[in-house]
Amino acid sequence: MAENKSDLMEKIVSLCKRRGFVFQGSEIYGGFAGTYDFGPYGVELQRNVISEWTKAMNERDNMARLDSSIFTAGSVWQASGHVSGFSDPLVICNECHSKQRADHLLESVGVVADEKMTEVKINQIFDENRGKVKCPVCGKKKFSKVSTRSLLATSSLGMFEEGDEQVYLRGETAQGIYINYKNILSTGMYSVPFGIYQVGKVFRNEISPRQFLFRKREFEQMEMQYFVHPKEARVLYEEWKKERMKYYERLGIKKEKLRWKQHENLVFYAKEAWDIQYEYPFGWNELEGIHYRGDYDLTQHQKFSGVDMSYFDEETKERFIPHIIETSVGVDRTMLMVLLDAYDEDKMSDEKRVVLRFKPNMAPVKVAVFPLLKNKPELVEKAKEIYKTLKKEFGAVVFDDNGNIGKRYRRQDEIGTPWCVTVDFETIEKDAGVTLRDRDTGEQKRMSVEEIISLVKSQI
Ligand code: GAP
Repeated sequence: MAENKSDLMEKIVSLCKRRGFVFQGSEIYGGFAGTYDFGPYGVELQRNVISEWTKAMNERDNMARLDSSIFTAGSVWQASGHVSGFSDPLVICNECHSKQRADHLLESVGVVADEKMTEVKINQIFDENRGKVKCPVCGKKKFSKVSTRSLLATSSLGMFEEGDEQVYLRGETAQGIYINYKNILSTGMYSVPFGIYQVGKVFRNEISPRQFLFRKREFEQMEMQYFVHPKEARVLYEEWKKERMKYYERLGIKKEKLRWKQHENLVFYAKEAWDIQYEYPFGWNELEGIHYRGDYDLTQHQKFSGVDMSYFDEETKERFIPHIIETSVGVDRTMLMVLLDAYDEDKMSDEKRVVLRFKPNMAPVKVAVFPLLKNKPELVEKAKEIYKTLKKEFGAVVFDDNGNIGKRYRRQDEIGTPWCVTVDFETIEKDAGVTLRDRDTGEQKRMSVEEIISLVKSQI
């Protein structure tokens, strides 16, 4: 294991760049804070994360998938309460002018505060602790007053005249689901209780985006809203909590690194809220939120749009506004957790190596195919043939003839490739299959290509 926790984050950031997972956004212009670009293996990891989540949602009955627009009428965010209540407390360092979150600075000196406090309250607590709080950039203790800043990012899309309604980039995908709930119902395919789920980009004007993929300004969410009868809400909420925690076994996450944390101060829409937390190198922090939102969202949209959001139960002849259970998790935050959880350092053949022990379904590359020697055309030709066969089966397969075999293994270990296939002279001369090398044990076995296909299939 990596020697110490703060090291681990740096090692992950550097591995991600070196091996083509994640790059700083706008890097050649000095970077644009809170944005990251995904390289070839980052894209594959992202796809695996989304695909596993989508599969888990789709395995349940009564679940509708949606892809709603990033841009909506501005009134959506008025109705949802985001325009008035979705903000973070900002303080500016008077010395170096860096912008910081007041609640994070207070937390760093052991003072309990959170972003949901009123401006007056957090100013009062900040003033009481001014002597203790240091700027994390310059170390000075001189700060401005605390002012709350909206997390919603504005846009001018479709705004041409003064007085046009302000447009926002979406701050969560959930609102797209609420405003389409009647459309989904009118397909006649769903009845309460049922769920709508979607994956999509979200934008937040984070004051101090930090910790790599943990807190970004542009990120992706995987959200599910479950519409239920109010009387069933508490029971179904508990079911969803259990299901979501169990889900992380599918990603291969170590059980002891996950725990529950209940929200003490609820956000404006929630009746009850629990987080699944992960132990990141910078401490336990939120991975996924599971919220019981009551009838807040549908009632608000009914009020603002004038559209009746009630549901009529044909069997019981009852009319009611469904209550909502929400599960919400970031793609990027999940990717960070999967990377951190998989990272390991050990020794193989007396050599130190870095290895990402991804569960095969998360691995960006499933199999790497090597010819034993690069300068033997018969080996290269056979290896290319096997590579094409495997690629047709699994897609995420690479051909590598660069450097000696040891170097190629190390490279694939760092990418987290579970299996490497080597084509040697026995493959050609004796039709003796290929060698399959296991990432975690280093064990090598001779196998036929058909056997490899069924082994990989059974593992992913
Ligand atoms: N619809 C509810 C909602 O948006 P949230 O707790 O603000 O709730 C849900 O966000 C999830 O989205 C978080 O648990 C986290 O996984 C992810 N998330 C939130 N802010 C993020 C950010 N700035 N960067 C990356 N992921 C973020």
